[in-house]
Amino acid sequence: MMLMVTGANGQVGWELVRSLMPFGEVIAFDRARCDLSQPADVGDLVDKVRPDIIVNAAAYTAVDRAEEEEDLARIVNSTAVGALANAARAAGALLVHYSTDYVFDGSKATAYVENDPPRPINAYGRSKLAGEVAICDSGCEYLIFRTSWVYAARGQNFVRTILRLACERDELSIVADQFGTPNWARNIADATAQVIRRAVAERALGRRMSGTYHLTAAGETTWHGFAVAILEFAVSQGLLSATSIPRLRAIPTEPYARPAPRPKNSRLVADSLSCQFGIALPDWKKGLELCLQDMKCCGQQ
Ligand SMILES: NC(=O)c1ccc[n+]([C@@H]2O[C@H](COP(=O)([O-])OP(=O)(O)OC[C@H]3O[C@@H](n4cnc5c(N)ncnc54)[C@H](OP(=O)(O)O)[C@@H]3O)[C@@H](O)[C@H]2O)c1
Repeated sequence: MMLMVTGANGQVGWELVRSLMPFGEVIAFDRARCDLSQPADVGDLVDKVRPDIIVNAAAYTAVDRAEEEEDLARIVNSTAVGALANAARAAGALLVHYSTDYVFDGSKATAYVENDPPRPINAYGRSKLAGEVAICDSGCEYLIFRTSWVYAARGQNFVRTILRLACERDELSIVADQFGTPNWARNIADATAQVIRRAVAERALGRRMSGTYHLTAAGETTWHGFAVAILEFAVSQGLLSATSIPRLRAIPTEPYARPAPRPKNSRLVADSLSCQFGIALPDWKKGLELCLQDMKCCGQQ
């Protein structure tokens, strides 16, 4: 089996290349080899590779910058994704793609299910929703996984930012009125591999598994709660000293608003994935603990 992975240097893409190896030949494309800001080139690339499965982990993910660069975000997250989907349909390939909690406006009182009406409140969310629509409209076989608050031992993410700032400051002010679930990129990649295994088996029987699923760890927290857990685990694993960690101040979003508004409620229900594929991710704190163990082993923060 031939598997094409885009965004191979990103948090999820990096892990995917490893998680998918047992399934066949994984051809990994970073931005230099597959630039989604050039959607016209995407079809030719897929024609050359002739993949059985395309996993698109590439995305324009700079949420605040997207407010200034909405056209570029839309090209990468929607136009190019549509081109990938059309190429997947032409090649008879399964397209696996990631989307986001930011397709929702966050006004729901409880966690979001897949068919809640999307209503993004920022440019990044609009571009990602447009990508979902482009895939659904293409007629290709697809799996869209919506996830949230992704972190890893590499890349730009909240965990690494908190660990860095913990060494620089005595006090950190962290938003405590946005609710969601942190997700370790490795858990996302491993779950993706398991779903692909099942989808491939179903395909062999002539059955298609197309759909949009919420792929998230169990439990929920706020960014402040996330920061508290990061510092606790970092101290217990010896990444930081208990005597030198900063005070964490819980603050509301409003006075400290960033360029892109964020949904107050980012919680996603992952029951469909569990019912359909028998996959349930553990509580978010478990993934965080393992990620920090990894970082300790690699001697990094
Ligand atoms: N990060 C989150 O908190 C979060 C939350 C919900 C959903 N998601 C979704 O999950 C998926 C994976 O995200 P992630 O956290 O792994 O993101 P990430 O770490 O930012 O990785 C994104 C990758 O996309 C690449 N990329 C950016 N622009 C590109 C372009 N024009 N052409 C080709 N590649 C391009 C980046 O390349 P460079 O390495 O060269 O920059 C990077 O390797 C994305 O679909 C994202 O929307 C992420």
